[in-house]
Amino acid sequence: MTIDAPEPDRTLYFDVDRSARIVADSFRNTPDPRLKQVLQSLAQHLHAFVKDVRPSTDEWAAAIAFLTATGQKCDEVRQEFILLSDVLGVSMLVESLADNAGERLTEATVEGPFHMVASPVRELGDDINVSGEPGERCLITGRVVDQDGAPVPGATVDVWQANSLGFYDVQRPDEMPQGELRGLFNTDADGRFHFRSIVPAHYPIPTDGPVGDLLRATGRHGFRPAHVHFAISAPGLRTLTTHIFVTGSPYLESDAVFGVKESLIVDFALLDDPARAAAAGLPNPFRHADFPVVLHREERP
Ligand code: BEZ
Ligand code: FE
Repeated sequence: MTIDAPEPDRTLYFDVDRSARIVADSFRNTPDPRLKQVLQSLAQHLHAFVKDVRPSTDEWAAAIAFLTATGQKCDEVRQEFILLSDVLGVSMLVESLADNAGERLTEATVEGPFHMVASPVRELGDDINVSGEPGERCLITGRVVDQDGAPVPGATVDVWQANSLGFYDVQRPDEMPQGELRGLFNTDADGRFHFRSIVPAHYPIPTDGPVGDLLRATGRHGFRPAHVHFAISAPGLRTLTTHIFVTGSPYLESDAVFGVKESLIVDFALLDDPARAAAAGLPNPFRHADFPVVLHREERP
C-alpha cells in the first residue's frame, strides 16, 4: 500500500514572474508592522529594479564588491555609506520628506559625515577659528524664533565648517586641533546668537573611496558649494539640521550631494564699519552673514 504525498503548492517555488510577491510574502509574519511594510516594499522595488536592469552575475558580483568596499572604507571618522546616500540624493530626500512642517520654517538640508565629534562649548561672540586658519574674516549672526515669531532663548546652536582648503578638523587631525571651526553656542534672552569665523570655501567631498570611483565613472564632480553647517535645538522644538550657503559660491547649482535650497543661500556682505568691527573683534572691513531661524514648536507649554 502506498501513501499519497500531498500535492505541493507550486506557487511557493521560485518563479521569475512571481519573485517579488513570493519574497514579500515571506515577511508576512513580521510582528513589527513598520518593519513588515518596509521589507515588503523593499522586496517589490528591488525585484522590479533587477528585472529592469537584468544584471549579469559578474555585474551583480561587482555591485556586491562595491558595497563591501563602501563598508570597509568606514571607520570612526569616515562614513562612506552616508556619502553614498548623499551622492544618490537619498539623504536629501529623507531629510526633505521628514521636514514637512510648513513653509514659514527654516528649511533643512543634509547633515553630512563630519558631525561626529562634539563641538566645544563657546560664548556668544567667540571666534571658532581658534588657531587662525587663513581666510576672509566674518561675523555670523542670527536669531532663533518659533513659528509664531516668539524668540527662543537658550537654544543650542551647533556650528561646524571646513577650513579654506575644504578640510574639517577630523580630516586633518595632525594639522588642525580638534574643535577647530566648530562651536556650541546658546542663544541669548532674545533668541540671538553671534560668532566669528572665516568665510568658508567650496570644497570636494572625500573622493578617495568607492563613492569617488562612482563619481569618476559617471563623469560627475565631487564639489560642494561653500557653506556653514548648523544644528539648532531647544526643548519642545523640532531640531533643525541645515546649512547656510554663500551667495555666489561655485557649485550652488550642481552640489554633489544635492543639498542646496534657495532659502538657505545667504549674502556674506562686505561691511566697512570700523566701530562694529572693533566691537566684534574683527579687522575692518569684514564679511557679515545673518541667518534668521524659524523652528517648529511641537508642544505648547
Ligand atoms: C558636508 O557638507 O560636510 C558633506 C555633506 C555630504 C557629503 C560630504 C560632506
Ligand atoms: Fe560641509
